[in-house]
Amino acid sequence: MDRLAGFDPPPEQTEELLTRVGELVTELVVTAAERPVLGNGRGDELVPELLALRPGQEPAALAPTLQRIREVLATGVDNAAAGEMAYIPGSGLITAALGDLIASVANRYTGLSGFSPAAVALELGVLRWLTELFGLPERAQGLLLSGGSAANLTAIVTARELHAPGQADRATIYAGEHAHASVRKAARIAGLSAEHIRICASSDGLRLDPRAVELAVKQDVADGLIPTAIVGAAGTTNTGAVDPLEALADLAAELGVRFHVDAAYGGFFMLTERGRARLRGIERADSITLDPHKSLFLPFGTGALLVAERDHLAHAFAEDADYLRDRSQDLDALPDFSAITTELTREWRGLRLWLPLQLHGEAAFRDALDDKLDLAEEAWAVLDADPHLETLGRPDLSIVTFRVRGDDAAQDALLRRLHEDGRIRLSTTVIDGRVVLRLVVLSHRTSRATVDLAVDLIRAAAAELATP
Ligand SMILES: Cc1ncc(COP(=O)(O)O)c(C=O)c1O
Repeated sequence: MDRLAGFDPPPEQTEELLTRVGELVTELVVTAAERPVLGNGRGDELVPELLALRPGQEPAALAPTLQRIREVLATGVDNAAAGEMAYIPGSGLITAALGDLIASVANRYTGLSGFSPAAVALELGVLRWLTELFGLPERAQGLLLSGGSAANLTAIVTARELHAPGQADRATIYAGEHAHASVRKAARIAGLSAEHIRICASSDGLRLDPRAVELAVKQDVADGLIPTAIVGAAGTTNTGAVDPLEALADLAAELGVRFHVDAAYGGFFMLTERGRARLRGIERADSITLDPHKSLFLPFGTGALLVAERDHLAHAFAEDADYLRDRSQDLDALPDFSAITTELTREWRGLRLWLPLQLHGEAAFRDALDDKLDLAEEAWAVLDADPHLETLGRPDLSIVTFRVRGDDAAQDALLRRLHEDGRIRLSTTVIDGRVVLRLVVLSHRTSRATVDLAVDLIRAAAAELATP
């Protein structure tokens, strides 16, 4: 292909661009299930070269430019591969990426609803699907954000604005010892002092104890502080354990504070019958963090916040400016996203959710997530029965946690041994002062064959490494 003829290339060049990029994307999709997650090499030799690279004054040719991208993709952890079971894997559906492509090229402005009402309505339709899925009231509002951290921050700023406006120095929040670090980070960014972020004990080592929260809130009130929110986890990052959401909802109602549920990892299991049963009580939340880039298989950069009362968001985030005087004022009809979030200009995120849901259908996601619950449960049963291993109990959702019999060094040795194979990647965490391995079944590409392979490799390595 010749050098590009301008910012808007002529039709034949545009088509060729799409064809060549399409070839690369097709290659990525068709090889994903077979690619090893590890074993690429880190690409250390490329790093200095890439850091030193600057754009030329003249256009570069397409082929070597795409080749450069291929070189980068041949390095590093391939977390779109089926064997990615460390942390919370990322799937990256092509249908979402295509939604992004269309949204970026069309570049409709969706910060204010009056400019492109139908584009905003398309996004709001998906958001209503979400608020309905979670059983939130009619007046609920969803937002698409960059991820779970941004959603937790938005929720905590909202809680501060409702309960302690102008008094962040006296505001407190309550979360479990296994709450995600983004909750603590959000509270600090929201101006709470670190010692007012109450990390409350668990009842069973894994799930937040409502009684511990109650005692902490009452003590704080007696000390003249202002409790703003209780944060429950619908699937902790460490073990996937679900906090007692109903009891926490009761407590928040009784104490008059907000109930925020961080469902960044576990939220979309609501699509399944088992997930709905395990997440019971989530429908009583004042706000819910979701991460479609985790349990809805979308590309990174897709978080969501659902808020039970849309006016609470406007209360926290609405600002006026003379140059925005033409915007729609009718929040009930089509809200301006800029009036209910931190962003003004934003990409049309709705399409990256809407297109996959249209093209695959809701049932495909439900079936895939049901499958993840089955695979995690089956893996747990086999690992739990192995004499060389101990597990931390049946998974609430799709994270299996276990140890090889032995000390912490044996756990690290087990992880290293597993990673030598290259086809699967797990991770470790610390629970109750002991190192534990985590196997997360969440990528849409993680199949029965992948999980069976992981279980076989774990058992074989454990047989060699276990000590009495
Ligand atoms: C429970 C939980 N909350 C919040 C987050 C933060 O989400 P993100 O990485 O999308 O910002 C994560 C990420 O792993 C998570 O597991």
